[in-house]
Amino acid sequence: MSKQKFTVTAALPYANGPLHLGHVAGVYLPSDIFVRFLRMNHHDVAFICGSDENGAAITLRAKKEGVSPQTIVDRYNAVISQAFKDFDISFDIFHRTSTPLHHETAQEFFKVLDSKDQFTKETSEQYYDEQFNQFLADRYITGTCPNCNSENAYGDQCEKCGSALSPNDLINPKSTLSGNAPIMKETSHWYLPMERHEEWLKEWIKEGKLDSIQQHDPKKWRNQVIGQCMSWIDNGLRPRAMTRDLDWGVKVPVEGGDGKVLYVWLDAPIGYISATKQWAIDNNKNWEDYWKGDRKLVHFIGKDNIVFHAIIFPILLKAHGDFILPDNVPAYEFLNLEGDKFSTSRNWAVWLHEYIADYPDKMDELKYVLTAIAPESKDSDFTWKEYQTRVNSELADILGNFVNRALVLTNKYYDGKVPTQGALQEVDQNVLTEMEAIPARISKLVYDYKLREAQAEAMNLARLGNKYLADMEPWKLVKDEANTERVATIMNIALQITANLSIVLQPFLPATAVKLGTFLNFEDNNWEAAGKSNLLPEGHQTEKPSILFQKIEDETVQKEVDKLNAAKEALMLKETSFAPQKEETSFEDFSKMDIRLGTILEAEKVAKADKLLKLLVDTGIDKRTIVSGIAKHYSPEEVVGKTVTVLMNLAPRKIRGVESQGMILMAEDVAGNLSFVSPEKDFAAGGEVR
Ligand code: MF3
Ligand code: ZN
Repeated sequence: MSKQKFTVTAALPYANGPLHLGHVAGVYLPSDIFVRFLRMNHHDVAFICGSDENGAAITLRAKKEGVSPQTIVDRYNAVISQAFKDFDISFDIFHRTSTPLHHETAQEFFKVLDSKDQFTKETSEQYYDEQFNQFLADRYITGTCPNCNSENAYGDQCEKCGSALSPNDLINPKSTLSGNAPIMKETSHWYLPMERHEEWLKEWIKEGKLDSIQQHDPKKWRNQVIGQCMSWIDNGLRPRAMTRDLDWGVKVPVEGGDGKVLYVWLDAPIGYISATKQWAIDNNKNWEDYWKGDRKLVHFIGKDNIVFHAIIFPILLKAHGDFILPDNVPAYEFLNLEGDKFSTSRNWAVWLHEYIADYPDKMDELKYVLTAIAPESKDSDFTWKEYQTRVNSELADILGNFVNRALVLTNKYYDGKVPTQGALQEVDQNVLTEMEAIPARISKLVYDYKLREAQAEAMNLARLGNKYLADMEPWKLVKDEANTERVATIMNIALQITANLSIVLQPFLPATAVKLGTFLNFEDNNWEAAGKSNLLPEGHQTEKPSILFQKIEDETVQKEVDKLNAAKEALMLKETSFAPQKEETSFEDFSKMDIRLGTILEAEKVAKADKLLKLLVDTGIDKRTIVSGIAKHYSPEEVVGKTVTVLMNLAPRKIRGVESQGMILMAEDVAGNLSFVSPEKDFAAGGEVR
């Protein structure tokens, strides 16, 4: 592809919690791979990110922790940006939407739209929480999604099915603050009349369907993205409020805006622009070069962000005028963890900063696995078992093994100097031809945003080398002096493959590529160098290698899985809600109950009632029949002989045609399991319980 200009953005993470592997696999790692590849191909790239520090995601978290929103964003901006540094995500800038530059930029943007009559101002009744004196928009209100019936949809969107919502769409709306049903109250807001933009949006999104005439043009959008956009448009676009009654965020900069802030999904994408401005200031560039004119804008996002990046933000850019629209919006599906959704609230997550702390020298291992299972076209699942398998049998056994053999043998036979490439046999020729073809295949896949296949293709080069050495067995040939030239040729080719790996792995496994370069005393960051069979000249000195990838032990996998389960259980216990204490009662009332120990003599199932057992109980004073709803918890055989607690003077009642004379008292745990209440000492039937 000819040299082009790219502005690549990665969705601004909310500064309300740390990053987990789902975020990394679906946004930050793929964008980083894409950008590293573009840089190696000498495109002019700006890679933009920052933290999203406004909106209800922040204020709700602050309320939950009992601290100010500022404390929250400072804390998590620090955690997130440190994790990105440690994980070596190569942003050109990681900015913040709480900075004055961002506030000014967003306000200026709003004013331009307002002055161009791109908003309408409407007064209407909106949900309001009387107890907290607050209007309820976005995450302040939850309810049942009208599209998929998920019960936890937010006022602005359903995370389950991805549809964008308004509070009024929710069934059984509830305030997140008080849990109460809201009342209606009047308020005024600025609305974006999206219906005005339907026509050009349709045409523009359809363009994304077209395969470009130009080879390798990254124009073709993913089916899910086009699908979601079209279904949104086909349902009819409606005006959407662009302001909120909140005190945290970017103040509405025009008359009548007192006490109101910009809708977070208006200000956050503008964060890409303000971040670019800051980067331009720091690096002596002109920010407008990156947002106007001949340049490709690419937004890497998760699927829950599609409508905001492929419809609302483009409308805003177009309405403002003179901005480019996104060239592509590669959206990722969701990554699950051990078969279950990642969830901050349920504490079901592998946190990036924790992984970094626990495995500080295994960044590429994680990158490799996350790219290999990236949820590009459908949801996928991260398991520690698969992590282990991929690291051990792919990275260690193929890539690591090959590189180690190539360098160790070179050291042994030639003091580390690259030997002469002599006459090529057909098998050598085939390997070199295959090697030459790989970079172009990777390129095509990367420009098509198929990074998972692209990485697999890069690994194919390691496979090729590994197989070549295994088939040629230079360590056997070397024993016969007649093979001296042949062994030199084989080793030369193995080293050229290693040098090629140090180039094609760079976008995917940057730390490993650097290590390979160190082993080889070789560095080339130009993609166009890849494929060549003479990267290392004859006589070039290489170094002794170290082990590239340590194998992951079974204990490590077990430890991680145990850790996940323990965290989940701890949270479940903490969150179990016990019924509140009942109303006060008198001793007199309590004494009216006659409770005694009884021993179960006989037990049988009640016909056509799968919950009931019919028991014959010795109560000391008589033997009576009691029907008890315990059949799901106890079999008839196991209850016979047990001494239990009996409420004796409960009025007899007929249950399924059988008269029950009393009741067996049962204890229930938080999970709904039932247990008899039995004396801890060996007491006989008839003993009284008081
Ligand atoms: N903070 C949002 C999220 O995590 C993404 C914001 S992307 C931006 O879903 F474009 F608005 F910045
Ligand atoms: Zn839904």
